[in-house]
Amino acid sequence: KRPAGAPDKALAQKVTKVGVIGAGLMARQFALLFVRRLQVPVVITDLDQSRVDDGVAWIHREIDELLGKGRISRDESNRLKALVTGTTDKADFASCDWVIEAIFEELEAKQSVFADVEKFISPETILATNTSSLSVEQIGAKLEHPERVVGFHFFNPVAVMPLIEVVRTPHTTDAALATAMETAKNLRKNAVITRDTPGFVVNRVLAKVLGEAMHAVEQGTSFDTVVEAVRPFGLPMDPFVLLELVGLKVGAHVLDTHHAAFPDRFFESKALHELAEFGHILEKDGKGKVKGIDPKAQAIV
Ligand code: 3HC
Repeated sequence: KRPAGAPDKALAQKVTKVGVIGAGLMARQFALLFVRRLQVPVVITDLDQSRVDDGVAWIHREIDELLGKGRISRDESNRLKALVTGTTDKADFASCDWVIEAIFEELEAKQSVFADVEKFISPETILATNTSSLSVEQIGAKLEHPERVVGFHFFNPVAVMPLIEVVRTPHTTDAALATAMETAKNLRKNAVITRDTPGFVVNRVLAKVLGEAMHAVEQGTSFDTVVEAVRPFGLPMDPFVLLELVGLKVGAHVLDTHHAAFPDRFFESKALHELAEFGHILEKDGKGKVKGIDPKAQAIV
């Protein structure tokens, strides 16, 4: 069944080479998904060579793990590794027909990175953004061809979360949207088309849940009590485990943007900013297994 608002898939353009801007937490995960599912060359860029190298090395390790688990053959692992390249030169994006960014959540930075890339790519190349809470229309506002911009919002962990939010702006063409929907399908994800509103759908709901959990802590309930109180609701993860998975800085930013957009409905969390500076909420053992709430994090709130 065609998802609500999806254009005719016959309009979709073929994706034969992918450019990924950013090599961080989300970008490296979806770069791996693109190479694995589309089996096309994937070029990754970031601010400097060492970030690019880190991202590519992470992808190589993940490919080795897939090989170790018997999910892919040695031939495939070699082929996938050869398809992934790193660069600091955006001219290497010239023959990409799909470029997606996941740099830090700052509007001007995203606008200027897209404007920079636009100099090297064809007018038909899709520019996708993984933004979680900025306006997709504004991200494309400085471009000569904003009609090729779509939101393409992944969830962490990318390998297992089944959803992508595809965001259409008032300028997005049917061809760009159809390409995004086909690409999501080829990545074996379930795509929904959302309006270009702050937080789209998922982060609005998550910001409520995680924001209220944080607010309860700020009002004096302990982290442990909140965790125990919400457990019977059957969330797939305890709220503060999820917050750490998302990243405390990203979480604080998402809350801030929701508060700015809907001040009467979302709180800013001063404590979450402080915890983001501190670095964590959870105490882990040497192997990264969660032991519980770190008493030092509790003391900060
Ligand atoms: N990377 C790759 N694979 C992973 C993984 C990871 N980080 N974490 C788990 N998996 C895989 C496991 O290998 C396993 O695969 P298998 O069944 O083929 O062996 C499968 O997922 C299930 O793993 P587990 O049995 O260990 O774990 P759970 O049953 O506890 O499920 C979970 C793990 C799917 C991550 C589940 O806890 C969950 O759904 N958590 C909620 C995550 C969530 O809400 N994410 C959205 C965050 S918001 C966001 O990202 C948007 C941003 O804009 C803020």
